[in-house]
Amino acid sequence: MLLDTFGRVARDLRVSLTEKCNLRCTYCMPAEGLPLVPADRLMTSEEVIRLVDLAIRDLGIAEVRFTGGEPLLRRDLEHIVARCHELHPAVPLAITTNALGLAKRADALAAAGLTRVNISLDTVDRATFERVTRRDRVDASIAGVRAAKAAGLGPVKVNAVAMRETLAGAPELLQFCMDEGAELRFIEQMPLEAEQTWQRGAMVTADELLAVLSEHFELTPVGRDDPAAPAERWQVDGGAHTVGIIASVTRQFCAACDRTRVTAEGTVRPCLFGDDETDLLTPLRAGASDEEIGELWKQAMWGKWAGHGGLTDDRPRAKRTMGGIGG
Ligand code: GTP
Ligand code: 5AD
Ligand code: SF4
Repeated sequence: MLLDTFGRVARDLRVSLTEKCNLRCTYCMPAEGLPLVPADRLMTSEEVIRLVDLAIRDLGIAEVRFTGGEPLLRRDLEHIVARCHELHPAVPLAITTNALGLAKRADALAAAGLTRVNISLDTVDRATFERVTRRDRVDASIAGVRAAKAAGLGPVKVNAVAMRETLAGAPELLQFCMDEGAELRFIEQMPLEAEQTWQRGAMVTADELLAVLSEHFELTPVGRDDPAAPAERWQVDGGAHTVGIIASVTRQFCAACDRTRVTAEGTVRPCLFGDDETDLLTPLRAGASDEEIGELWKQAMWGKWAGHGGLTDDRPRAKRTMGGIGG
């Protein structure tokens, strides 16, 4: 079991497969991209599979999400999913993706055993999408949402980071998601961007979003799916659709955090904001047993701190940006 000193148990594993991405969202990546992890420091598919396998078998992990960068940039994603699913068919396997290129691979990923996808899409307006992501690819992302749905990779969730540039378009995005049968969740922006422009007073808060959405929809609070889920949800217009808000800044949920993260370089990162990472890849390559790796992982999680402790302008920045952590 991955227990910490605050009594939290991590059952949700997030594995980053690459720091590369084909978009350059301003809240996540620098315009030039991240310096690449040297090829010999990147986990191979077999190393990823070994860590996932032992985490499920020995450490109580009950659900796995592959992230990036952009996980679809790994050509071996289908292989990784297929092997993890063969080893542990009952464990849900998900990805968080920008959905570029998903249209071509959704069926193969579903066949490999992928359970669901969360798609990052901040706006359906072409010009705004291009400003935010620095790429003109909104059509490919929308095609990905549709393909995921068609392949049965659901419930498909759409993640939208709340920004000044996209706030006015929030109702349009919600309507789009309802029409597509996807569950929209807005996310308060956290200070994990490269340019370090985030300011607590300038970010869009959950309350502001709710005010804008309430001008167009009737929202009724329904709470969280489970206590550790990051999103609080609201029923829309009394119907079957909901909208979620992940208020990491104004309503922090660290006390219920059940996540453990592994970077693309094979280090355990107990918290999004925790730079005190524990290297598993070096011992793994040196022949460490599952038990030894499990011990290192447990120690890493035991040292997890209470949480980010409030995100303020003067809080020291994390060394990694979001693109290097995987959300
Ligand atoms: P579901 O299982 O579908 O609810 O996925 P998820 O929301 O846990 O994962 P996803 O990758 O879709 O993340 C959505 C947003 O929630 C991202 O901005 C994440 O950074 C944020 N998030 C996820 N886990 C944590 C966390 O432990 N702490 C904080 N502060 N934010 C988190
Ligand atoms: N703050 C909040 N969410 C972010 N994401 C990326 N960067 C940030 C940030 N600075 C979101 C992405 C993706 C998820 C994994 O994290 O949009 O959906
Ligand atoms: Fe968990 Fe850290 Fe996120 Fe808080 S900031 S919810 S402790 S990962």
